[in-house]
Amino acid sequence: MTLPGFPVSRPRRLRNSPALRCLIAETQLNVSQLVLPLFARSGKKLRRPVAAMPGVFQLSPDEILREAAKAHALGVPAILLFGIPDKKDEKASGAYAKNGIVQQTVRLLKKELPSLLVITDVCLCEYMSHGHCGIVHGGKILNDPSLKLLARTAASHAEAGADVVAPSDMMDGRIRALRAELDNEGFFDTPIMSYAAKFASAFYGPFRDVAESAPSFGDRRSYQMDAANSNEAIREVALDIQEGADMVMVKPALAYLDIIRRVKQEFGLPTAAYAVSGEHAMIKAAAANGWIDERAVTLESLLAMRRAGADILITYAAMDVAKWLK
Ligand code: PBG
Repeated sequence: MTLPGFPVSRPRRLRNSPALRCLIAETQLNVSQLVLPLFARSGKKLRRPVAAMPGVFQLSPDEILREAAKAHALGVPAILLFGIPDKKDEKASGAYAKNGIVQQTVRLLKKELPSLLVITDVCLCEYMSHGHCGIVHGGKILNDPSLKLLARTAASHAEAGADVVAPSDMMDGRIRALRAELDNEGFFDTPIMSYAAKFASAFYGPFRDVAESAPSFGDRRSYQMDAANSNEAIREVALDIQEGADMVMVKPALAYLDIIRRVKQEFGLPTAAYAVSGEHAMIKAAAANGWIDERAVTLESLLAMRRAGADILITYAAMDVAKWLK
């Protein structure tokens, strides 16, 4: 494309009024794109705040229902549900227990708010005494034996009524294992949103306080991706799609906009960006100090994820954003 050049070309011409700017905006941020993460733990009327994440709580199922109803009323179409079990062990029993915390909460939500989309995070770390996302033996995180537990967990979520399951463990072959188990149990129509390009990120710090899922030894670098890699992200996503992922996710979001861009361009699948706990905490902390404008920075960050190619935005600020967009 060759432009005529100044003074014929004057890009400022199209910036002269709010209406004109709106008319030519290439990207829209809409409440229909938002997903709110929520953390369930057993109890009644429990709202336990988390130090590193202002505005985020561990909630008992009744409180999850209240929070979800509020979000839904604001137009947020979906929540992403995590569970914190009462007991952890070495086989993550709480993850796939028929009456586990996520299963109970899903049943309640689907009964009371049937039109709210309930996405469940499928992982083992919150349920394992060692905090890793798979079975540990001799200090190693075992891949193949972990698949069975992950698949059982996903099927138990679907059985409880989950609309979408979202595996976040990063074991190889988990999408195939989940799809097979879901189909085997008759849940052909339950979509999988795969945390396909999930990086081993320091931005997850605050989440691990909320979800009580910090690994007790080592780190997650043998299963989550190295922040240095972009081609590898494409291979990870390609494999997940081949194995049956219906939607894919890039995580974290703001520091990985290039990955979002490539994934969307390469595959064209519905693509989610997860604005993770550390991203949220940074905005909250700077705003609390009066250093940045919380609303403007949050909206600008999410718009940037949309511009990069994200269709779905998973954000702890979903309710605030819904209010701001009204
Ligand atoms: C569980 C999981 C994590 C997050 C989502 N699912 C933590 C981790 O991998 O350590 C992070 C979300 C956030 O930081 O907001 N595997």
